[in-house]
Amino acid sequence: MIIFKKAADIHNYLLIKMEENQSIGFVPTMGALHEGHISLIIKSKAANSLTVCSIFVNPTQFNNPLDFEKYPITIESDISMLEEAGCDVLFLPSTTEIYPEEFVKINYELGYLESILEGKYRPGHFQGVCMVVERLLRIIPCNTLYLGQKDYQQCMVIEKMISLRNMDVHLVIAPTVRESDGLAMSSRNRRLSKDERQNATVIFSALMYMKSNIANLSNENIIYEAKKMISEKGFDIDYVELTDCHLNPLENTTSRNGIVALIAASVNKIRLIDNMTLINPIK
Ligand code: PAF
Repeated sequence: MIIFKKAADIHNYLLIKMEENQSIGFVPTMGALHEGHISLIIKSKAANSLTVCSIFVNPTQFNNPLDFEKYPITIESDISMLEEAGCDVLFLPSTTEIYPEEFVKINYELGYLESILEGKYRPGHFQGVCMVVERLLRIIPCNTLYLGQKDYQQCMVIEKMISLRNMDVHLVIAPTVRESDGLAMSSRNRRLSKDERQNATVIFSALMYMKSNIANLSNENIIYEAKKMISEKGFDIDYVELTDCHLNPLENTTSRNGIVALIAASVNKIRLIDNMTLINPIK
């Protein structure tokens, strides 16, 4: 695996690969890699001749400074995992490579996506995500961008940013990878104590409960019961919501748009999110 630290170097290297008609898949990450990230590398490798991963803990997307400080850094094991998965290129930039002095910040018109769910609880977060992903895509010429469904709203925000900025990149959203007990893989899981880790499976149980009951209980009842399950395990709930596949409230949509359940809850200031498609949209 070739490791680049300078934006200009990786950019020039990949431009040549593009001119040679190689197809390039790109997996952006903030490191602390787990099987969820590796599944994206594997997906990209299956469809492209070159797979690029980036590791950059982006300060502009952390609305909570404590979360930024505590974000796990495991660069050595990240590199071995990427090598083992057969990733071809790693971009490992410093903050000044991503945000040089001349970097001009813009405002992304994300509409309702910015004020609901994660947007409501993490003000400014999605502006920071767009800022870094657009910058990475300008540095890393690629055909396809791979993201995980675990960050459902992030996927929609990035899709919107790609269209707002007229970027020529195809987006692939890969299914959430789960631990054997259902907990969605996340870099934050490693901050959980043994008990918290055990209790965290309630988020998956609540989603499964919602999936099993969506056809026979009212939405209000389902949300009420799911919240009860989660708070009984000591989690503070930010939201338990049912929306359509575009994250519109169910009362403003049609059944063709499917149903997604989304949860955000914290224990001991460790915030976990997860989601599940309960009913698929009709394409
Ligand atoms: O999902 C993440 O890890 C980050 O939000 C991303 C997409 C790498 C941007 O920093």
